Formats: sequence, C-alpha cells, structure tokens
Amino acid sequence: MKKLCQSKILKNEQLADQYWKLVFDCPEIANEALPGQFIEVYFDHSLKIFPRPFSIAKVEHDALELIYKVIGSQTEIMASWKPGETVQILGPLGNFFVISDDTKTHILVGGGVGLAPMVFMSEVLKEKNFLFFCGGRNGREYFPEVHDPVRRIISTDDGSVGFHGNVVQCLEKEIAAIETPVVIYACGPEKMCEALKYFGEKHNIPVQISMETIMACGMGLCQGCALKTYDENGNDKISLVCKDGPIFKGEEINFG
Ligand SMILES: Cc1cc2nc3c(=O)[nH]c(=O)nc-3n(C[C@H](O)[C@H](O)[C@H](O)COP(=O)(O)OP(=O)(O)OC[C@H]3O[C@@H](n4cnc5c(N)ncnc54)[C@H](O)[C@@H]3O)c2cc1C
Ligand code: FES
Repeated sequence: MKKLCQSKILKNEQLADQYWKLVFDCPEIANEALPGQFIEVYFDHSLKIFPRPFSIAKVEHDALELIYKVIGSQTEIMASWKPGETVQILGPLGNFFVISDDTKTHILVGGGVGLAPMVFMSEVLKEKNFLFFCGGRNGREYFPEVHDPVRRIISTDDGSVGFHGNVVQCLEKEIAAIETPVVIYACGPEKMCEALKYFGEKHNIPVQISMETIMACGMGLCQGCALKTYDENGNDKISLVCKDGPIFKGEEINFG
C-alpha cells in the first residue's frame, strides 16, 4: 500500500558528472518496496509543481536510495538538498519485475540512469545467477559504486570504458555463451528499450521493460504518461505508465 511520508534525507552525494545518490530514512516505503517500483518526490505542497517519479535503487533496513541524473529544474533542486532536510515522498508505486524460479540466467540491462531499478534487482537476485549490463554514452556516466567492472559488464558508446558500442550490441556479443533459459529486465532510453524488445523476439527471450515516460500527476488522473501498447489479442491500446506500469512485457509495447 502506498504511503505519503515526510522523510528525512540521510545522504545526498554526487556519484559522477550529473549523477547523484539520495538516501531517505523512510521505513514505511522501504519495508514494502519491490524492484521496479518507484516513488514520487514532491517539491511544492501546493502542487503547483508536479512531483517527479524516481525508481527505487536500493533498500537497506529503513533507508530508501535513489540514483538520479540532474537534467532539469527539479533535479537541480534535488542536488542542492542537504542531509537532515525533510522531503515529502509517495510510494511504493507501480508494478514490479516478475522473477521466475525457472530462469537460469537473469539479465539486467540498465542504460544511463536506467540502471537505478537494476541496482535494486541485483540486490534481490544476489543469491541467483545474474548478469548486469550497464550502458552509458561515455566515461562521465561511469561511477565505481555501481559500475564495478568485476560484477558488471560495461559498455560505452564512445568506447572510453568497457565494450565499445551500445549495451544491446554488447549483449548480442555475449548472448550465445549465456546459460538458458534467460529473462531480460531492462530500463533506459526509449531507443534501447525498443532494440531490446526486438532482441528478445529474435532470440526468443522474454523481456520486461520499465518505461520512464514523462509523468505529471503520477496517479492515473491526467493521462500525461499515456503509452501505446497492445492487448493480449494484438489490438492497439493505450496504457498509463503510472498506473499500469512502469513495467511492461516487450511484446506489449508499441514503439510505433
Ligand atoms: C517510473 C519512472 C522512474 C524514473 N526513475 C528515474 C530514476 O531512477 N532516476 C532518474 O534520474 N530519473 C528517473 N526518471 C526520470 C525523472 O522522473 C525525470 O528525469 C525528472 O522528472 C526530471 O525532472 P526535472 O524537473 O529535473 O526535469 P524537467 O525540467 O521536468 O525536464 C527536463 C528535460 O528532460 C525531459 N524529461 C523529463 N522527464 C523525462 C523522462 N522521464 N524521460 C525522458 N526525458 C524526460 C523533459 O522533456 C525536458 O526536456 C523516472 C521516470 C519515471 C516515469
Ligand atoms: S502521470 Fe497522470 S495519468 Fe499517469
């Protein structure tokens, strides 16, 4: 059940270039959160500014961690927050990744800041066999806390760190050697998610994708997060990412 909490900031640290880690003390949400779920972060009690959605990147006892990229007005404000300040957050929201016991290898794919929910997945899967592919544009999107080269397979578009190419090309290179059956869990830029949908179809691998569309209300009221999808008979449908997602099966998403 989602909770609206006034949560104390425990840490707000820069990880790399535009990447930050924000940790809240929030037992109400931390104790219920599942990987793939997100929270809404509020900036204004009068709601003149819409809250912003962020995936839960880690849960440790009562603490809830986000990894965020500074890209605009509100994430810039987030980067100025200090430990001890209190922020209103709502969560856990949305559906979560479905983990099947029949899977031999769990493949996590995070593109850019899309690695955030995959960090949470990697914690939940730590007793199982998983591979974590992290893709970034260049070395400025690389931070050792997450991109530990022993535990991650890293790619950068410019080749400055790890495999030279995008994360789907990197996965294509490795896939033949990976023990099956396999499931792919992914989050990242839309082009990456689209490529993974077709990668899954080509290799007959189920893909679960967390879609990070722009959101406004975050609670199914404004239609701001509408996503073109297919129903089980292949007919066109409109889904709401905040209410029906953020996680969809690859075959459900109509990338147009
Ligand atoms: C379910 C979900 C989970 C998310 N998890 C994370 C996360 O873990 N870490 C993280 O850093 N971000 C995450 N995001 C994206 C995050 O919500 C946006 O980056 C944030 O709202 C930007 O706010 P802003 O005020 O700084 O930028 P704004 O000023 O609102 O926007 C700046 C620019 O970024 C574009 N933009 C805004 N939101 C998105 C988006 N979702 N995708 C692509 N472009 C966008 C705008 O169109 C604009 O051009 C998530 C989004 C969703 C829907
Ligand atoms: S953000 Fe308003 S309906 Fe999803």
